[in-house]
Amino acid sequence: MTNFPAALPSPAKIADLACDIAVRAATKAKQLRGEGVTVAASKSTPTDLVTEADRATEAFIRDELARLRPGDGFYGEESGEQASTTGLTWVVDPIDGTVNYTYDIPAWATSIGVVYAAGPAEPETWTPYAGVVVNPNLHEIWRASHGGGAELIRYSIDDGTYHHHSRELLHLAGPRELATSLAATGFAYDADVRVDQARQVLALIDKAADIRRFGAASLDLVGVAAGRVHAYFEKGLHPFDHAAGALIAREAGAIVGGPGRGRENCELTYAIHPGLAAELLDVLSEIGLPV
Ligand code: IPD
Ligand code: CA
Ligand code: CA
Repeated sequence: MTNFPAALPSPAKIADLACDIAVRAATKAKQLRGEGVTVAASKSTPTDLVTEADRATEAFIRDELARLRPGDGFYGEESGEQASTTGLTWVVDPIDGTVNYTYDIPAWATSIGVVYAAGPAEPETWTPYAGVVVNPNLHEIWRASHGGGAELIRYSIDDGTYHHHSRELLHLAGPRELATSLAATGFAYDADVRVDQARQVLALIDKAADIRRFGAASLDLVGVAAGRVHAYFEKGLHPFDHAAGALIAREAGAIVGGPGRGRENCELTYAIHPGLAAELLDVLSEIGLPV
């Protein structure tokens, strides 16, 4: 367990705050979805979409943090970076799964990771502090704090206030074999990269029970934490895709690797059930992935 400066609120307190902000942000995004979708721009490729809701949701989170945690840094997908003066930086993907959001497929989430760095906040050196992923379509909050474990909270909203219904501690253990395990992955927006990824999936598909591609990296990572899938791997994620979900998977006992190898287009992110990790990492390495 890392020693953090005593002046900082504990990781658990920061996780509580992240839950509160993420639920309100995800609820707002869902409400906006009900009013329709406006595509505002595209980014790396014409299919890498940004909607007005992506921007509005990130602006909401950023404004809340400026009010509640002035001095903390911010690193968001849609509105860039602000350096931290406290050591904490909020790494935010306001809508992870924007393509699903656009087509009204209810597999998207608001993902908020909080990281600690004594100097500049770089993924190679920062320490995950807290992480929250909220899927407002299923009313699920996934929460973890550094050294404090991971949990799934089910909630409802009454008169604009949210209530917790149940809390389930997430804990992965025991043996697993690839032949009976579900593996999730994701594909890049760049079609050439996707062809390579499809070749890797082809090399894996007869070794695993089956493959899933849900379309939101944060939900893939928490899916491993809950045992909904047994492994997830993807090349080319950005820190805001995995900052929260990777901590949640790790705190649940998954073997997590890759995050932190580079700020953009990190080589490989994976989260694997601990009983399956040795077998799957060998296979990923055989099919040419940089594990
Ligand atoms: C994307 C989703 C997708 C993954 C892509 C991400 P976005 O995030 O997480 O599942 O395959 O690599 O970029 O663009 O919807 O926030
Ligand atoms: Ca994302
Ligand atoms: Ca996004």
